[in-house]
Amino acid sequence: MTQKRSLLPDGIERYATVDMVHESPVMRALRAETSTLPRGGMQIGADQGAFMALLVHLIGARQCLEIGTFTGYSALVVAAALPPDGRLIACDVSEEWTSIARRYWQQAGVADRIDLRLAPARDTLAALIRGGASGSFDFAFIDADKTGYDVYYESCMTLVRTGGVMLLDNALQDGAVVDPSAHEADTEAIRAINQKVRDDPRVESVLLTVGDGVLMARKR
Ligand SMILES: C[S@@+](CC[C@H](N)C(=O)[O-])C[C@H]1O[C@@H](n2cnc3c(N)ncnc32)[C@H](O)[C@@H]1O
Repeated sequence: MTQKRSLLPDGIERYATVDMVHESPVMRALRAETSTLPRGGMQIGADQGAFMALLVHLIGARQCLEIGTFTGYSALVVAAALPPDGRLIACDVSEEWTSIARRYWQQAGVADRIDLRLAPARDTLAALIRGGASGSFDFAFIDADKTGYDVYYESCMTLVRTGGVMLLDNALQDGAVVDPSAHEADTEAIRAINQKVRDDPRVESVLLTVGDGVLMARKR
């Protein structure tokens, strides 16, 4: 995976993701450490983080879900935007990557708001539904394996309340979604879920060109 996850010209990208964003020192340090990793490009940009924090504030979210945590940047921005009694359930399968996340969540003082579940996300989401959590979440961020997005979207549709918001990351696949010669499994999965969400009468949606594309859906 490349480090660059934006289709913007470099100067504009820098202006939007660096010059125009307030990032806390802990967020900046986490971004710097993650950028040294071979898969560091999976981390969302600071502008997308600021957007997600603003959205969490705007909808007054208290209960949030994340599918795909990596080294913890998106979880950190969401948790920091929650009230002290807010909760984020973060799903991932990597002990190695999320051990970095835990360190920064501690430093930022938000570790007690984040409940990390290390298991395949479809199992965690199914367990939440079985446990009676349907309709109890305000916000969900989907950013894990792309071929799993349909399952994650349907699970989040059940778990998110009416009026709640779901964000699906990497909706542009570095531009591959509009390249007729691109047929990788991830690209096909993203094309399919983009079209499904666009045509889904259960939500109102918009494709934002922030980062690598964020498909935003509000449950009706
Ligand atoms: C793109 S990264 C997430 C980036 C993160 N949201 C951030 O902003 O830094 C995708 C993550 O999904 C996780 N993942 C992949 N397959 C998964 C699965 N089946 N269940 C849960 N997590 C999974 C990977 O371990 C990886 O950490």
